[in-house]
Amino acid sequence: MASIMRTATIFVLSALLLLQVCSYLAMSRSLQEESMVARHEQWMAQHGRSYKDDVEKAKRYNVFKNNVEYIDSVNNAGVRTYKLSVNKFADLTNEDFRSTRNGFKQAPFPRSCKATFMYENVSAIPTSMDWRSKGAVTPIKDQGQCGCCWAFSTVAATEGINQLTTGKLVSLSEQELVDCDTGGEDQGCGGGLMDYGFNFIVKNHGLTTESNYPYQGVDATCNTKKASNDAVTISGCEDVPVNSESGLLKAVAGQPVSVAIDASGQDFQFYSSGVFTGSCGTELDHGVTAVGYGTADDGTKYWLVKNSWGATWGEKGYIRMQRDVTAKEGICGIAMYASYPTA
Ligand SMILES: *[C@@H]1O[C@H](CO)[C@@H](O)[C@H](O)[C@H]1NC(C)=O
Repeated sequence: MASIMRTATIFVLSALLLLQVCSYLAMSRSLQEESMVARHEQWMAQHGRSYKDDVEKAKRYNVFKNNVEYIDSVNNAGVRTYKLSVNKFADLTNEDFRSTRNGFKQAPFPRSCKATFMYENVSAIPTSMDWRSKGAVTPIKDQGQCGCCWAFSTVAATEGINQLTTGKLVSLSEQELVDCDTGGEDQGCGGGLMDYGFNFIVKNHGLTTESNYPYQGVDATCNTKKASNDAVTISGCEDVPVNSESGLLKAVAGQPVSVAIDASGQDFQFYSSGVFTGSCGTELDHGVTAVGYGTADDGTKYWLVKNSWGATWGEKGYIRMQRDVTAKEGICGIAMYASYPTA
């Protein structure tokens, strides 16, 4: 009898304990879920995001949750030289992201600047360079949901050479390239190539200012009146020798240089700070601008790269990408398609 009672008591106690453990687990799961929901709401408010209905919101919440978990896991791993953050792209799958934020035309990408390399024999190269501090770089811009990174890269390199030549920093028009540089390889928000952008500027006898022909982020009809109001001219452009980080170094020591990279990875999407060391491939899909180089405190050499995803992405709109890697293509293919305009 006593033993039956004992067994029964143990049974009841264990059942209670089990119940408690279960409800504790359920509670902690729901607490986690609740805090993730709150995090999403907070993020939505911060980024002014709203969704058309509850179905869309539930879908975006799941994407957000997956991204946050990925970002936390990378940051907590603590072995990388860079950090990720829950930025404005946090409710986009990597696929959504790639389809709207890049815009460098996929290979085969014909080169069309001159193959002569004016920096070929340069020997005195400073150990670091930051064209921002020399006043040759305009503030960070935002291409929005238009695949015209190529126009932003073309413009940033042109703004650079113009400042180095005239001493004046003038913000120039991406929209003119988007609207007017059509009919060839360049297709506005549908993608393009910086080499062709430079050639358009030469053929068009210059490019107008940002304020005269402001950015709209959509393909529009070429406003020929605005487009003919040229503010800055270039004489041509040159291609940096392919797959040569040492060639790229000589060029970037001389002026801001347009480069193409593979920016398709999740780590690139959520890059926040530090020297980016990958992972990434070499399927070039994004045009950006190398505006300097240097060495981080821990000794990692980097390229200083201006992006066109607004100032909240990365290091105030910039990314430092590892320099002098083993692969001849450079990190994310940065040495594969570099070019610059000539004064
Ligand atoms: C670099 O030097 C070589 C040898 O003197 C010369 O042939 C070449 O034209 C020079 N390149 C440039 C771009 O000046």
